[in-house]
Amino acid sequence: MQSYTIAPSLLSADFSRLGDDAQAVLDAGADILHLDVMDNHYVPNLTVGPLVCAALRKYGIKAPIDVHLMVTPVDSLITDFAEAGATNITFHPDASTHVDRSLDLIRKLGCKAGLSLNPATTLDCLEYVMDKLDLILIMSVNPGFGGQSFIPSALTKIKRAHEIIKASGKQIDIAVDGGVKTDNIGEIAKAGANMFIAGSAIFGQPDYKTVIAAMRAQIKSAAG
Ligand code: DX5
Ligand code: ZN
Repeated sequence: MQSYTIAPSLLSADFSRLGDDAQAVLDAGADILHLDVMDNHYVPNLTVGPLVCAALRKYGIKAPIDVHLMVTPVDSLITDFAEAGATNITFHPDASTHVDRSLDLIRKLGCKAGLSLNPATTLDCLEYVMDKLDLILIMSVNPGFGGQSFIPSALTKIKRAHEIIKASGKQIDIAVDGGVKTDNIGEIAKAGANMFIAGSAIFGQPDYKTVIAAMRAQIKSAAG
């Protein structure tokens, strides 16, 4: 049976009290925390480094932390985030000169490895690294900011990725990131995604528990 994961993006959390807000969203029923790392080079925004991931662990966060690297180059930060307590590490294939090597490095450091694909990036880059992937993160906005609108062509890409994974017989999660809300999460699940990254839709609401429960209900009725 398919398992569905809700991953709030801390980009929309209250950074002045990040530990408390991260714990609150987990207590409200989230499965995993998504941490967006932006370098003002690969993307036009600047967020946090490995110190913040380590601080969340030190605070007592036990849930998996899904680190989304929007940086170039990637390899030294892969090492730093693995040491800082990351569970999953994804990076953009166009941000690494040696994608296969970077994927190997993530797994060698004991983390789950994934590729993040921008809206215009095709699925071709997966072909020769399928055996090195634990997840594929399909971006449904251009990376850099929270609160953008879902780009509908991501649904076609999720469907195609789902077919490719099914044909491979491998256990690879499909995450979707950007513009995920209660009113579109059902069709995203139907297309084949099983990990839902949502920032503004969750942290923008006063009651995290209600919105997460509503998202789960939509997923359940769409995907069974
Ligand atoms: C964008 C980030 C997303 C972002 C999503 O570059 O990768 O994780 O936080 O934010 P929402 O859910 O508000 O679109
Ligand atoms: Zn992200």
